[in-house]
Amino acid sequence: MKKESDMNIFDATRKHYNAAGVHPTTDPDNPRSQFAVERYENHLPKLIRPGMRALDLGCNAGRFTFAMEEMGAIATGIDFAEIPLLHAKKVAAERKSRCQFNIGDMSALPYKANSFDLALLPQNNVYLSYQALENLTVQLKQILSNSGIFVVIMHDGLVKRAGEETFSERYDVRTGLIEGSRAIPDKGVYASPCYFWTIAFAKHIIEKHLPLEEVKQIDEHRFMLVFENKKGDEG
Ligand SMILES: C[S@@+](CC[C@H](N)C(=O)[O-])C[C@H]1O[C@@H](n2cnc3c(N)ncnc32)[C@H](O)[C@@H]1O
Repeated sequence: MKKESDMNIFDATRKHYNAAGVHPTTDPDNPRSQFAVERYENHLPKLIRPGMRALDLGCNAGRFTFAMEEMGAIATGIDFAEIPLLHAKKVAAERKSRCQFNIGDMSALPYKANSFDLALLPQNNVYLSYQALENLTVQLKQILSNSGIFVVIMHDGLVKRAGEETFSERYDVRTGLIEGSRAIPDKGVYASPCYFWTIAFAKHIIEKHLPLEEVKQIDEHRFMLVFENKKGDEG
């Protein structure tokens, strides 16, 4: 059973991304969307081996899913917003890509044990409560193969938000939830709540279940954390 606060952020996030739909800066078919993947061009390809089964958590219209396929993976994306996911499926059909796109909640994954060798969470930790990220990690321990990796790309909120004027008015110290909204042209204003995360805190939660292999700093406040599923004798 999900907690009410999780239901609220899930509902708000799904509505927001369905309303936002597909935009030139998120459409995998538009070169303007590629900046997001190019940020990691010195990092992500090094983690992908040919034929690796890769899962893109919160894939939206699939730019990271397609990018991982181009890097040699057999890639699957999951997202709970139908509109961008339908676009991802259309692009896959047009490109004759092998990428699969599944509708679903990344904190309650519909996959069986040993389905993937890599799971990528590209800056989508902010849509997960602290408990939801731990639940996701516990699931990945089963879903990832032995030595499979969980790659978390995230901001450190403290470094990123230092000095932000309205932050304290929007921040709930008890839950870590930050209220926010986004105006979507011709559609209105949508709630866009998110959770406050720091690298140390994410590391603390995920490391309870999957050991940390490395932390790479991508830019001033963006980091890539790699955790490995070491099953040992139990695997
Ligand atoms: C900022 S977008 C990033 C999309 C994608 N990684 C990209 O770079 O294009 C966040 C995506 O995560 C999805 N998302 C957020 N919470 C989710 C959840 N609990 N389950 C599935 N998808 C979720 C949203 O619907 C949205 O498409």
